[in-house]
Amino acid sequence: MCGIVGYIGKAPVVSTVLDSLSRLEYRGYDSAGIAVFNGRGIQVRKRAGKLKELASSLKRQPLEGRLGVGHTRWATHGEPSELNAHPHRDCTGELALVHNGIIENYAELKSELLGRGHRFRSQTDTEVIVHLIEEHAKQLPLPEAFRRALKELRGSYAVCLIAASDPSRLYGARCGSPLIVGLGRGETLLASDVPAVLSRTRRVLYLNDQEIAEISVEGARVTTLEGKPVVRKPVVVDWDVASAQKDGHAHFMLKEIHEQPAAIEQTLTGRLGHAQITFDRRTSAFLKELSRTERLIILGCGTAYHAGLVGEYMLEEVARLPVDVDLASEFRYRGAMLDRDTTVVAITQSGETADTLAGVKLAKEHGAKVLAICNVMGSSIARQADAVLYTHAGPEIAVASTKAYTSQLTALCLLTLALGKLRGAIPAAQWRRHLAGLQAVPGLVRNALRAEPAIKQAARRYASARNFYYLGRRYNYPSALEGALKLKEICPLIHAEGYAAGEMKHGPISLIRPGWPVVFLATGSPVYEKIVSNIEEVRARKGACIVIASEGDRAIRRHADAVISVPKTEEFFSPIVNAVPLQLFAYHVARANKCDIDQPPNLAKSVTVE
Ligand code: AGP
Repeated sequence: MCGIVGYIGKAPVVSTVLDSLSRLEYRGYDSAGIAVFNGRGIQVRKRAGKLKELASSLKRQPLEGRLGVGHTRWATHGEPSELNAHPHRDCTGELALVHNGIIENYAELKSELLGRGHRFRSQTDTEVIVHLIEEHAKQLPLPEAFRRALKELRGSYAVCLIAASDPSRLYGARCGSPLIVGLGRGETLLASDVPAVLSRTRRVLYLNDQEIAEISVEGARVTTLEGKPVVRKPVVVDWDVASAQKDGHAHFMLKEIHEQPAAIEQTLTGRLGHAQITFDRRTSAFLKELSRTERLIILGCGTAYHAGLVGEYMLEEVARLPVDVDLASEFRYRGAMLDRDTTVVAITQSGETADTLAGVKLAKEHGAKVLAICNVMGSSIARQADAVLYTHAGPEIAVASTKAYTSQLTALCLLTLALGKLRGAIPAAQWRRHLAGLQAVPGLVRNALRAEPAIKQAARRYASARNFYYLGRRYNYPSALEGALKLKEICPLIHAEGYAAGEMKHGPISLIRPGWPVVFLATGSPVYEKIVSNIEEVRARKGACIVIASEGDRAIRRHADAVISVPKTEEFFSPIVNAVPLQLFAYHVARANKCDIDQPPNLAKSVTVE
């Protein structure tokens, strides 16, 4: 959500910042802007809409300099417009600032600043920050004025500031929204996420909440909000620029769907052996303790929540461990019963989702232990957790989560099997079968991808429908929720809902009309017959049944309008394999409807505000 890029160095600032901002486009935004120090003063250019609008304006009337800050805005306070786009300036035009997050006390700060004669140009909460710094800078040196202003803010922020009076540095700070420093050779960057700096450096310094970074060409000086120096080693990121690019695919989403066999292999590498599952020392020690726990709470949002729901089926049935799954946005406010004997598993691709982070903090405040299943190393949630099971899926750029989801499910398989073994809940034969089954998953996913032409055909056939249902049972009930989420998020013309198939008769079936498409998950399971009955109920009302079934299931054809075959697997692994046709179906329906697949309107990759 919103992207920040700050740059100081020898390269032309405009092209550098625009290039880095383009690598943050996946976060979702509605306007963009840049501020550049040109040797005399600060010039600002902003445009509503996509980055290309800003880029073409800068082509017509270029700005030049070696210090600057850019931003892509996702509106929270004030409509998406040029005026409300960042950077924002103080009254003198000497300062320019960009911000991600929400300043909760902006109204009271604004009225105080108006009383002191400040002139505001936008409707944003952000503009108060730059005027507040200006106000303090009347009495204090800039670094101190910056610190003082930040202390007065309530809410969440990642900010980046440049000042005409101090062109040898830029200032960044974070509290609740991510901000990283990219340490290059003779150049330094500030950014909201790693892909923004990858074309210039892989040495990255993650800022913690309440920390300030003073950036110069030599590097970064980090201090706390109280002014205490912070010593932190940079991390060398193992992603490269190529992995953050499309590689000839029409969309990042399609590329990431096809990367799933490799991503899943990465999640398993070094952990899954022929006869055992191993983790690093810290995680192993954590799991030993966890195996004695009597209660587990899984937290997540959106797709990560759906992975958690699958985890509930896995952990309860195979590891015999009681599990509650909560939407992080509900968990944080529902007065959940937490104590030292509770373990929370936080599932998150980005590691920065505001609600999940708040849930983790809340759990820790109550003495609960936290395990994160996370894709981004060094992210806020990874740092807060007591142990982390990294999914190692590589950067996920498309807003719609695909490979992150299947690698989360893979990590949950590992977790379930390891805990089941530690708890003595898995008989030896089942253990061997599941280990072999898990080894086979990347290959099964590879085979599932081969059905793309048939899936595309089915997608085109139903692409003009405006309502879809997705139905599944047991392990594939969450698959139904995820399939519906995938479709509605990337194809905003369509309304799609997922239900537990057994719930149909309790209400949703009333809407079925002739031709209404219903996607069924009917792969092998103990409730296969029941799903077939549900298919018949929809057919009786002349709904169109698109059935995802196991290869070799000829009998299902009698019941379906369209069949999508997936490789046969045990039900335990089926949500991973079944995710592939669901993702491809959504992708091709959205493509047939000419939707903005990688950056759907109103959505952001990483929801860093509440
Ligand atoms: C998935 O397609 C969505 N974009 C969204 O639901 C996402 O899974 C959710 O916002 C959680 O993000 P996280 O995994 O980074 O915490």
